[in-house]
Amino acid sequence: MHAEAQTQTASGSAASAGSDSTHGAQLIDGTAIGRLVRRDVAEEVERLKALGITPGLSVVLVGDDPASAVYVRSKGKACEEAGMRGETIRLPADTSEDALLAQVDRLNADPNVHGILVQMPLPRHMAADKVIRRMRPEKDVDGFHPVNVGKLSIGERDGFVPCTPAGAIELLVRSGVDTRGKDAVIVGRSNIVGKPMAALLMQDAPGGNATVTVCHSRTANLAGHIRRADIVVAAIGRPEMITGDMIKPGAVVIDVGINRVNDASVPKGYRIVGDVHFASARDVASLITPVPGGVGPMTIAMLMKNTVRAAAQIAGV
Ligand code: GUN
Repeated sequence: MHAEAQTQTASGSAASAGSDSTHGAQLIDGTAIGRLVRRDVAEEVERLKALGITPGLSVVLVGDDPASAVYVRSKGKACEEAGMRGETIRLPADTSEDALLAQVDRLNADPNVHGILVQMPLPRHMAADKVIRRMRPEKDVDGFHPVNVGKLSIGERDGFVPCTPAGAIELLVRSGVDTRGKDAVIVGRSNIVGKPMAALLMQDAPGGNATVTVCHSRTANLAGHIRRADIVVAAIGRPEMITGDMIKPGAVVIDVGINRVNDASVPKGYRIVGDVHFASARDVASLITPVPGGVGPMTIAMLMKNTVRAAAQIAGV
């Protein structure tokens, strides 16, 4: 995997691997890799525009959850930067489910809309699965529709893969990590990250062909599973739960967690941390994603990528 770290592992001093004598792992820079993906996307947007197609993404935000509002704003900005048409539809929290479904119907029928994203979580009086099923799978750039979930499961490439796990795979591929035959342990079994991540890592495709274990809240001996892993994917939503002592020397660590923890020592009063205890894991791993600046920036980049592909596929170009 990472030659330098492997050498260090063999000599039993993984904690001092790498050129920096205090840290083992190299960082996987999601901000830089995300920029490369968005540059490719912008090129594809130019190609499509020359054919008279401007890829368009419509994001629907119901209610005023502050975190969702931040995500939605950054999606709109990324669309603009990529030369795409970005639209945000804001609906009040007391919108009826029928009204939201009618909105989805309208977007399904609009030829200028290639990608539809309904921001989750939805208010409690709405059934997310019903809303997701209402979308045309061809426009479901989140990859949440059962048709897209099924296509990923059977390895069909024309469906859409959820953006966060797709971004995590892109990080592995672009960082030169050879996943073939490796033991990958995913911690977390959500529909948005854990399950699609397992499908991608076991797929016969770049970033795949790994031997995959999915751990969850009922897993016995979680640390034992993680300790065997050549690749660890943390997607549990528990701040800094995976510590360096649980990680095999030289492993690659992908931290999908984004958790806010109180920290009176900084002006904002909080810090963003992952599901991995970064300082201790970094001493042992060969490659690790930081939080923030790892998987996070990839999610939006992959959303843009999915949207331009939706536009090309719908137009048949
Ligand atoms: N809320 C948090 N992450 C996501 C995502 O990837 N897609 C949608 N639709 N909502 C989210």
